[in-house]
Amino acid sequence: MEFLKYDTPTMEFLKAPMLFLVISSLTTICSAVNKGGYWPTWAQASFPPANIDTSLVTHVYYAFLAPNQNTFQFEIDATTASALNSFTTTLHKKSPPVKTLFSIGGGSFGTEIFSNMASSPASRGRFINSTIQVARRFNFDGVDLDWEYPETQTAMNNFGLLLDEWRVAVNKEAQSTGKQRLLLSAATNYKPQITFKEVVKYPVGSINKNLDWINAMCYDYHGSWDVTKTGHLAALYDPNGISTSDGLQAWIKAGIQREKLVMGLPLFGRTWKLKDPAVHGIGAPAVGLGPGNEGGMLYSEVQTFNAQNKATVVFDEPTVSYYSYAGTSWIGYDDVESVKRKIVYAQSLKIGGYFFWTIVGDQNWKISRLASNTWKA
Ligand SMILES: *[C@@H]1O[C@H](CO)[C@@H](O)[C@H](O)[C@H]1NC(C)=O
Repeated sequence: MEFLKYDTPTMEFLKAPMLFLVISSLTTICSAVNKGGYWPTWAQASFPPANIDTSLVTHVYYAFLAPNQNTFQFEIDATTASALNSFTTTLHKKSPPVKTLFSIGGGSFGTEIFSNMASSPASRGRFINSTIQVARRFNFDGVDLDWEYPETQTAMNNFGLLLDEWRVAVNKEAQSTGKQRLLLSAATNYKPQITFKEVVKYPVGSINKNLDWINAMCYDYHGSWDVTKTGHLAALYDPNGISTSDGLQAWIKAGIQREKLVMGLPLFGRTWKLKDPAVHGIGAPAVGLGPGNEGGMLYSEVQTFNAQNKATVVFDEPTVSYYSYAGTSWIGYDDVESVKRKIVYAQSLKIGGYFFWTIVGDQNWKISRLASNTWKA
């Protein structure tokens, strides 16, 4: 879109061919499906970036980096520097190469540092400059902001201002260096509004104008924060509650450009301990968390658990989701049929693609391959 900056009469004759170039490059962007995967740094030893099958993804996110809470700039120690270097070098050299982004923040990072950073032009500027420096120093293709979540409308509006200034800064930097512009994305709530003390709304206009896409986190609809009953973490449909179809439709209704909306898919499950092993449906009474790490399990661990415990596996047609149970253990997760149905659904909405949290949760690339084969570019 840089062409549009030529706005003088003498450049008038250039506009038609340039508009053509803009349109044809947009068409290229639209037809390429965004197939993302977050790579968590805790997987450095168990699942190093070299293990990633880059034929099945287009964008891989290094998750996460955190800015200093006072300066809002990144202080990269030697260990992290080496991890960042090896991440981008490994993934760029692979065949095919993929785009790399580093993701800032994350669920456990909280909201306060971001809301402080976003509250003034000076602190936004320091943060933005530091993201560009880190991206260039370690050869990333872009930056992803995972602010969970802007909790007031003021924070949401400041998030919008941050995106305005960030986009101007990466455009300028690309012009002055001649390098490809850095990509900008953000992980967001599954739908464009969230209820805290007040209902807050994402700045959809700013997102459309400034971000290349958003990763809508279409999961964690139920989890360890409610142990009284089982619930699915990522139902496609749920007439009585939260669902991926509701979230995606709400984003579209709020005016997001469809190609900038990317659907999250969980490669993990959430577990409960059933009150009565004989009552085991979705919404069954529970008395606590089930197996796994604080009620969470990678998809691959769910598969192992099901096999080892001869669990009963149920595909729930109304919600398009899976759950399994064995004794008092209950696990909700996504598997072959639900992922396929979600991909077909996302395609029917003509959105930009999908991403996995996390890429290291798969079992021998089964789900990633299925998703990629289901949604051909
Ligand atoms: C950020 O970088 C730009 C370009 O180098 C510079 O003009 C600006 O003063 C910097 N802003 C801050 C807050 O450091």
